[in-house]
Amino acid sequence: MIRVVLIAFLFFADFAIANTIPPVEVPDTMSERVKACTACHGKEDKQGRDAYYPRIAGKPEGYLFNQLRNFRDERRHYRPMALLLKGLPDQYLRDMAAYFASLKQAFPPPEPLKSSPAEIELARRLITQGDAGRKIPACVECHGKDLMGTEPFIPGLLGLPRVYIIAQFGNWQNGGAMRGETPDCMSEIAKQLTTGEASAIAAWLAAQPVSEALSERVNPTAPLHGKLAERCSSIVLQSGGVQ
Ligand code: HEC
Ligand code: HEC
Repeated sequence: MIRVVLIAFLFFADFAIANTIPPVEVPDTMSERVKACTACHGKEDKQGRDAYYPRIAGKPEGYLFNQLRNFRDERRHYRPMALLLKGLPDQYLRDMAAYFASLKQAFPPPEPLKSSPAEIELARRLITQGDAGRKIPACVECHGKDLMGTEPFIPGLLGLPRVYIIAQFGNWQNGGAMRGETPDCMSEIAKQLTTGEASAIAAWLAAQPVSEALSERVNPTAPLHGKLAERCSSIVLQSGGVQ
C-alpha cells in the first residue's frame, strides 16, 4: 500500500514538475530555419525599396515548392535567395514550402489606385472576362474567382506589391532568363498583354483590399481541369511536385 501511494505521489510530482517547467527550446525548428527568409518575407509592411518583396504566406504549397526549386536551380534569378537555397535538398525546400503555405498572416493594406477610369475598366475586363479574340483566358479562371489562388500550383494575386507584379510580367515578356525557361501558360498569356495592359492589371490587383473572410478561406478552388490544365501542364506536371 505504501508503495502504491509512493508511486502515485511520484507520478503526480512528476506531472506537476512537467507542468511548471517550460519545454526546452529545440533549436532546429522550422521558424528557426526560416529566420533568414522572414527578414524579407516578414510580417511588417514593407516600404520604399523593400516594397518589392512578394508575400508568400498562405500560397499553395506546390507553387512555393516549384519557385524555391526554380531559384535554387537558377531557372528564376534572385541572387540573395539563390545563395540561401544553394545545395539544399528537395525535401528541405518542400518542408519550407509547407511551412509558408500553412502560415496565416494579415494582408497589407491596399495600395492607392491612381489609374484612369479607362484603365480600371480595362483591368477589370481582362481579369474577369479575358479577351476571347486574342485567346487570353480570364485571370479568374485559373487564379480562382476570388483571385486567391488554386491548389496546388497557382498562386493568389492579391496582397502583392504593384511593382512586383509589373516586374513578373516584364520577366515573362522578355524571355525565359528571369522566370520559367520552359514556355508555360503564364508566360504565353503575359506575352500577349501590352505593357499598358499589364500595368493597369498590376495597379488594380494591388489596390484590392483583402477581407479577413477571404484570407481565412478554407475551401480552396478545385484544381484546374480540361483545356486550362493542359495549357499549364508544364507546371502542373513538373516532376517532384507536391504529392
Ligand atoms: C534579401 C531578401 C530576401 C530573402 C532573404 C529571401 N527572399 Fe524570397 N524573395 C525575395 C524577392 C525580392 C523575391 C522576388 C524575386 C523575383 O522578382 O523573382 C522573392 C521571391 C520568393 C518566392 C516566390 C514568390 C512568388 O510569389 O512567386 C518564394 C517562394 C520565396 N521568395 C521564398 C523565400 C524563402 C523560403 C527564403 C529563405 C530561405 C527567402 N525567400 C529569402 C527576397 C528575399
Ligand atoms: C491558364 C491558367 C492561367 C491564367 C488564365 C492566368 N494565370 Fe497567372 N499563373 C498561372 C500559373 C500556373 C502560375 C504559376 C507560374 C509558375 O509556377 O511560375 C501563374 C502565376 C501568376 C503570377 C505570379 C504570382 C507570384 O506570386 O509571383 C501572376 C502575377 C499572374 N499569374 C497573373 C495573372 C494575370 C494578371 C492573369 C490574367 C491576365 C493570369 N495570371 C491568368 C496560370 C494562369
